[in-house]
Amino acid sequence: MSETLSFKDRVVVITGAGGGLGKAYALEYAKRGAKVVINDLGGTLKGSGHNAKAADLVVKDINDLGGIAVPNYDSVTDNASNIIKTAIDNFGRVDILINNAGILRDVSIAKMTPQDFQSVIDVHLNGAYKITRAAWPYMREQKFGRIINTCSPAGLFGNFGQANYSAAKLGLVGFAETLAKEGFKYNIFVNSIAPLARSRMTENVLPAHILKQLGPEKIVPLVLYLTHQDTTVTHSIFELAAGFYGQIRWERSSGQIFNPEDPNFFTPEAILNKWSEITDFKDKSFNKTQHPLQLSDYNDLITKARNLPKENNQGSIKINS
Ligand code: NAI
Repeated sequence: MSETLSFKDRVVVITGAGGGLGKAYALEYAKRGAKVVINDLGGTLKGSGHNAKAADLVVKDINDLGGIAVPNYDSVTDNASNIIKTAIDNFGRVDILINNAGILRDVSIAKMTPQDFQSVIDVHLNGAYKITRAAWPYMREQKFGRIINTCSPAGLFGNFGQANYSAAKLGLVGFAETLAKEGFKYNIFVNSIAPLARSRMTENVLPAHILKQLGPEKIVPLVLYLTHQDTTVTHSIFELAAGFYGQIRWERSSGQIFNPEDPNFFTPEAILNKWSEITDFKDKSFNKTQHPLQLSDYNDLITKARNLPKENNQGSIKINS
């Protein structure tokens, strides 16, 4: 039998934990002994208004179960550092940060106002930046941190009417991938999830028989696993819904190497002629498809493409400094 994953005395900050997914995470962390900061502005789905009730009710649910939680009503856009201060003032540290707060302003690009675009970017992406920036020095100092960024299938694949949301959500993946690199030596692990779950965000857009399968509690186990002190997982993207858990990764085609001596080198016509080779995802004798993880993966590619001697490959692109 596998061991129980305990979160005893871990301090968890969850943004947007007044309902939906955030609430589901909070209840499970608290059941497993964590001290939880329940942040929620308590606004509408579009981001207007505020109400302390959302966070207060989740804190009450946790307290009624004998767990430990405190509310925070700040917006991640305006006062993110105060959310971390709530954790420090009440519990003395911050171990786990779940970037979960979100709003929707769905409308096709032809009708999307600058305000529709900006407000969605502000809550999801800028909000995650601001609170992560506030938590980071504590995590670095204590050499422990676990961060989850909440992406979306709409960010990974696009979705009609969600250009603002897709941009913010894929931005969160890039943000997480760099944080994972910068945090690794401090034992700060950062991953992204792209969930699908029943909540006020989805209840009017998905059919009832699908919604029935999408209980938010089905997202919880992977989030807790990824944020446990013993996990070794970082720099990864997961997709999860209705009991399915899978991983997403980047894939580069085997591609095509053009000969610089060729008089037709680097012309649009040369691209046209080799289009099927450029976009071929089958392994080729000269190059294999790849699942790149870092900028320095380009070193190999450039060395091969330009037929450079191996030593020219040293230090051409510097990362992880
Ligand atoms: P939800 O609407 O129930 O939860 C979002 C919470 O964030 C709300 O309680 C809201 O009051 C809070 N919030 C909004 N703006 C805030 C701000 N400025 N500061 C603090 N809190 C704020 O929706 P749900 O579904 O639980 O969403 C949670 C996260 O999961 C969101 O980031 C969402 O984009 C993401 N997601 C959800 C999916 C789903 O199928 N439900 C699909 C993909 C991603």
